[in-house]
Amino acid sequence: MTKSIVDGKDFKLGLFSPNCSSGLAVTKVPERWTGNWDDNLRMAQIADEVGIDFLLPIARWIGYGGETNFHEGVLDPITWAAGLLANTKRIFVFSTIHTAFNHPIVVAKQMATVDQISKGRAGINVVAGWNQPEYETFGMDLPQSHDDRYALAQEWLDVLLKIWTTTGKFDWDGRFFKLQHVESMPKPFDGPLPILNAGSSVQGREYAARNANFGLTIVGGPEDGAEIVQSFTKIAQDTFKRQMGFFTLGHCVVRPTRKEAEEYLDYYANENADWDAVDNLMRLQGMHAQSFTPEMLDMFRGRFAAGHGTCPIIGSPDDVADEIERFAKAGFGGMTLAFLNYADELPYFAQEVLPRLEAKGVRLPR
Ligand SMILES: Cc1cc2nc3c(=O)[nH]c(=O)nc-3n(C[C@H](O)[C@H](O)[C@H](O)COP(=O)(O)O)c2cc1C
Repeated sequence: MTKSIVDGKDFKLGLFSPNCSSGLAVTKVPERWTGNWDDNLRMAQIADEVGIDFLLPIARWIGYGGETNFHEGVLDPITWAAGLLANTKRIFVFSTIHTAFNHPIVVAKQMATVDQISKGRAGINVVAGWNQPEYETFGMDLPQSHDDRYALAQEWLDVLLKIWTTTGKFDWDGRFFKLQHVESMPKPFDGPLPILNAGSSVQGREYAARNANFGLTIVGGPEDGAEIVQSFTKIAQDTFKRQMGFFTLGHCVVRPTRKEAEEYLDYYANENADWDAVDNLMRLQGMHAQSFTPEMLDMFRGRFAAGHGTCPIIGSPDDVADEIERFAKAGFGGMTLAFLNYADELPYFAQEVLPRLEAKGVRLPR
């Protein structure tokens, strides 16, 4: 049976980064997201209840500095997913996993276990790596060539999938892994897990096209998003003879009027932004990842404060529903949202925006 997250029937909505302190908002306001377990559990149960399709965590090992040390508090994505899946009924929960810092035999067993706990609602977001200071934390060198980063990521995933699909033992003699008498039971509950990937470099796009169910891509807006979806889809079809979908990312402030939403955005992401952390984050992203073009980095300092460089989805319920519809029309299969306080703001979004999206035919009733 096709898992609902990959059925392509309508536009999927997820929440991104709730496992991290401050979520995606690089701000000093006191009501910013704690990222603690109790708030995560509350958020996940509301999301499950109102029909949000998936949760996506960030894997982060050190903070970005600034007054708040942005992303200082981060719940581990795999154990977070296990806890949330045990306490929800229908929502999918992805785990974000760095190929360089996690051995694939360990991950194969962890994620098979998480999938067993949830009866098939687990997924993985594979990260090939970019954040130099974290490599230093691990005492490792960030490979300067994207070819090398993605070669490791490919072999890592090949090992993982081989473990999930092989009965009995096997040996592996590769460039990065030399493994003997590998075996692993149980397998995932319901076949290999859905895969997300966010590479934006040439090598990253090819990796996503070869392996992922969904590419994750940060765009300027629906217009350039449509072009990116088309070019990615073509690589997947022409080179790898496979179909894939795309999710993009936004940060959302929805209030009864557009004026109220814009005022709140200005309060948390301008007046009270943690600008030192914003600048550290942008500097690191610009140096080693290609998720943002240099033009985007120049233009988007405000977007980084408000939502880590993702698209603003700001306004009244009508504005927000219209903007999400534009992404659906651009060809995206779904998007993630982040709220300043996920658990507090989700009920209003669910009450006002989800019915509008259903009325537009963007989403089916859950
Ligand atoms: C939605 C999304 C989620 C991501 N999650 C993480 C993460 O949790 N940890 C991390 O180190 N990088 C994360 N990244 C970074 C990407 O996985 C990728 O490594 C980065 O964009 C560099 O790839 P590139 O050099 O091929 O562009 C994320 C990117 C996006 C767009």
